[in-house]
Amino acid sequence: MNCVIFKIYSRHKDEIVVKYKSIFWFKAVMDLNKILVLHGPNLNLLGKREPEIYGSMTIDDINSMLKAEASKAGFTLDARQTNHEGVLVDEIQAANGKYDFIILNAAAFTHYSIAVRDAIAAIAVPTIEVHLSNIHKREEFRHNSVIAPAVVGQICGFGADSYFAALQVVIRQLNREAGK
Ligand code: DQA
Repeated sequence: MNCVIFKIYSRHKDEIVVKYKSIFWFKAVMDLNKILVLHGPNLNLLGKREPEIYGSMTIDDINSMLKAEASKAGFTLDARQTNHEGVLVDEIQAANGKYDFIILNAAAFTHYSIAVRDAIAAIAVPTIEVHLSNIHKREEFRHNSVIAPAVVGQICGFGADSYFAALQVVIRQLNREAGK
């Protein structure tokens, strides 16, 4: 008798039922293994924007290296940038049920956007806050993050490595949850 074994595991319980040769039904549960990186306003200018603070890597450099790292570990990583607060809120809401983790650099929105904070709190996807610069060492208005109470944790001050450190945390946490 033919038998197909699907990996049965899910964080999100998205179910697919596969009919095999019209006789056997196999129930497979999708494991998303997907990470979303969101970059907020002005981060499209990375590489050109105040390189003494934010470094010389462009957003495309960072995204492609993150994708490569994630893929080596068996994860899919999508990355998007927006300069618009409402678009960022839409992206966060749309991530619910589609991604396992969000790595978010909300840039200037970090310091005042209650809408971004509420969007993070409204969804079930855990979020890590990242910043290239050490926001606590800079101007006073950057010291407060209104999104911090809604995220799992914050990594800042390591330049582009803040994103890579966040990705390592995400990979370790998701592997641990999956019992790997
Ligand atoms: C930033 C820090 C924010 O204060 C600033 O508004 C940014 C970038 C960072 O990555 O260091 O745009 O989030």
